[in-house]
Amino acid sequence: MRMRPGAGENKGPVAMKSIEWQENGVKILDQTRLPGEVRYRWLSSVEQVAEAIKRLEVRGAPLIGVAAAYGVALAAVKHSGDRESLRKELLRAREILINTRPTAVNLRWAVERMMQVYHGSSHLDLDTIRKRLVAAARQMEEDDLQQNRCLGELGADLLPADARVLTICNAGALATCGHGTALGLVRSAFSRGRVKKVWACETRPVLQGSRLTVWELMEDGIPVTLITDNMAGYIMRSGQVDVVVTGADRIAANGDTANKIGTYGLAVLAHYHRIPFLVAAPFSSIDLSIPGGDEIPIEFRDADEVRKIGGLFITLPQVEVLNPAFDVTPGELITGIVTERGIARAPYLNSLADLNQKGREDTNDL
Ligand code: MRU
Repeated sequence: MRMRPGAGENKGPVAMKSIEWQENGVKILDQTRLPGEVRYRWLSSVEQVAEAIKRLEVRGAPLIGVAAAYGVALAAVKHSGDRESLRKELLRAREILINTRPTAVNLRWAVERMMQVYHGSSHLDLDTIRKRLVAAARQMEEDDLQQNRCLGELGADLLPADARVLTICNAGALATCGHGTALGLVRSAFSRGRVKKVWACETRPVLQGSRLTVWELMEDGIPVTLITDNMAGYIMRSGQVDVVVTGADRIAANGDTANKIGTYGLAVLAHYHRIPFLVAAPFSSIDLSIPGGDEIPIEFRDADEVRKIGGLFITLPQVEVLNPAFDVTPGELITGIVTERGIARAPYLNSLADLNQKGREDTNDL
């Protein structure tokens, strides 16, 4: 499929930026238009950032975290009142952003980190506070890319030679600030000659697999075969999958993992067929305050996402619909959780706590 790059743009998704701070605004690649059109949007208010997150113009747990961080920075930059009234404006921005999407913990994590930066700077002059907030959001963007490269390298070691990898949704460069998590692992392994092909589940109802993952991989020259979600059992049973790799939106302390709807079904199938099931995610997707997956809030989205494809009804417009955007895979079905701090394995209660401690020690060493 030929892409139609925007004016002056002719880069694959790895070189392309999914998000960028530019001249007191946020530039995003509008993912609702892909793969047919590569179009950027400039967001100039916290309300516009929130709307872009809700509409899935920016999506993927790490990316919506960074987008929300830029939303807080934007609220400060656009604030026309004095330093004293900034606090109220940032609390308003925090509320708006946190309420956009409930499942990915990265969003809340990023917003709370920005509020910490604000609290640590609130005694300074307005201009300095703004600069610090923009710098903190930019740093989050940079950190995300580094973390993905790091977890990609660690995870690549886990793939067998000539791996045939099955994935769902899009946990790639588009869902992050570059490289990707599940697809970052695939990219790192592919550059070492370890990946034979990727099976991309189309990911109904929003089609992140067929629209975004296929696009990313084809642009990078990584062999990919698209399947509908209900074909996964067939290819596993016929011995055509060596490993399943997915991203995560929130991982509880016991390893239970929320990810795109359909992930749980893949994990059950993989378990039955004795196929390793890996989750790749930055540590910011781990929520140790939640003991298990039952506590993870699941986002339910508009029924028309199921009733329509490409804007056209594929069923009766009045049919009742259930549209959970995520499901939870129990930790016991997960072979390993690959993070930038290391690889966690069962029992996750211990291994995730150890990686958390390691992160604290690394921060203290700085
Ligand atoms: O609804 P989406 O497209 O934001 O869902 C995204 C996913 O489920 C991804 O797998 C997850 O956020 C990880 S992205 C690196």
